[in-house]
Amino acid sequence: MKSGLTIFSVKEEYHIAIVGATGAVGAELLRVLERRNFPVTTIRALASGKSAGRKVQFRNQPIIVEELSDHSFDNIDIAFFSAGGEISRKSVPIARKAGAIVIDNSSVFRMDPDVPLVIPEINGQDVKQHRGLIANPNCTTAVALMAIYPLHRAFGVRRVFAASYQAVSGSGQRAINELKEQIATAAEDRQSPAQIYPHPIAFNVLPHVDVFLESGYTKEEMKMQNEGRKIMHLPEFLASVTCVRVPVYRAHSVAVSAEFEKKVSVEQAREVLAKAPGLELVDEPQKNRYPMPLNVAGKDNCEVGRVRLDCALANGLALWVSGDQLLKGAALNAVQIAELL
Ligand SMILES: NC(=O)c1ccc[n+]([C@@H]2O[C@H](COP(=O)([O-])OP(=O)(O)OC[C@H]3O[C@@H](n4cnc5c(N)ncnc54)[C@H](OP(=O)(O)O)[C@@H]3O)[C@@H](O)[C@H]2O)c1
Repeated sequence: MKSGLTIFSVKEEYHIAIVGATGAVGAELLRVLERRNFPVTTIRALASGKSAGRKVQFRNQPIIVEELSDHSFDNIDIAFFSAGGEISRKSVPIARKAGAIVIDNSSVFRMDPDVPLVIPEINGQDVKQHRGLIANPNCTTAVALMAIYPLHRAFGVRRVFAASYQAVSGSGQRAINELKEQIATAAEDRQSPAQIYPHPIAFNVLPHVDVFLESGYTKEEMKMQNEGRKIMHLPEFLASVTCVRVPVYRAHSVAVSAEFEKKVSVEQAREVLAKAPGLELVDEPQKNRYPMPLNVAGKDNCEVGRVRLDCALANGLALWVSGDQLLKGAALNAVQIAELL
């Protein structure tokens, strides 16, 4: 047995590499591949040199983490990338050249016209156009579109106004540790320094996700419009978004006000949302039932609720979506793409 390469039973078919296997998304990718019984023959766990030799688990077997190198993709069929944009920019071309099909979680290739950007429930057919690389969408965009797209099919969406409530796991394992540390030290009346974020995240909300652009929006905020246009094949789609980081460990939520071409009703909207794939309608406000991060964390389906006529828009609906961004916004969506292949 080669280091870091574990051989599994003969009925399975694909040689898989995970770049960033020790990270928040990478760990989830291993779990999702296992849980969905993806046909894996071998799995290669890749990370930086500092994690080489560590072990991750797949199907109760330890897999030794290898340092990413130019030879990491020899004999690999499918490579999942979740190690950040810089690594994707450098190593995705190497993986493609070695013959692997790449599913990339970074934002580097998402808007490249030659690269399909796919949410299987929305534009799964776009996978057919791939040339060895498929991009996974932004996590907040993915969660929001799971509810916006079915409504678009029914009523024709024109524009949305949205605010996100994004969990710290969206910034990776180190941000999870930072929130834990800040909560623990606050309990002892001490303060631990902010390292990942520019300000403390415990007991705070930061209207700042990703870098600021000249327009005043952040890069993250523009992803819903840019990626939404590409995924929904809707070049006129408009989205004005404020992205907010909140002290939640896992699962993003988005408050959406959407304006449609056609007249909308709450009953019709609920009917459409209840039938949408990958989505559950949780909308009984009188019983205090609505989507919440604690309820969707670890769940494949996103949840939508608080559906009401938007009082400030013509043909508008206001709604609230929550979804586990490590799953639908990253690992689950990536594995669903691999399943389409
Ligand atoms: N977190 C989310 O909800 C989410 C959602 C959608 C997309 N994404 C995207 O997914 C990617 C990973 O995010 P994450 O949250 O999982 O981050 P993370 O927890 O910080 O993990 C980063 C991973 O990248 C590896 N890495 C870092 N430098 C490397 C190098 N030089 N060579 C090889 N591997 C290296 C790390 O390995 P070491 O252990 O060796 O440092 C680790 O496995 C990012 O592009 C992010 O934008 C994240």
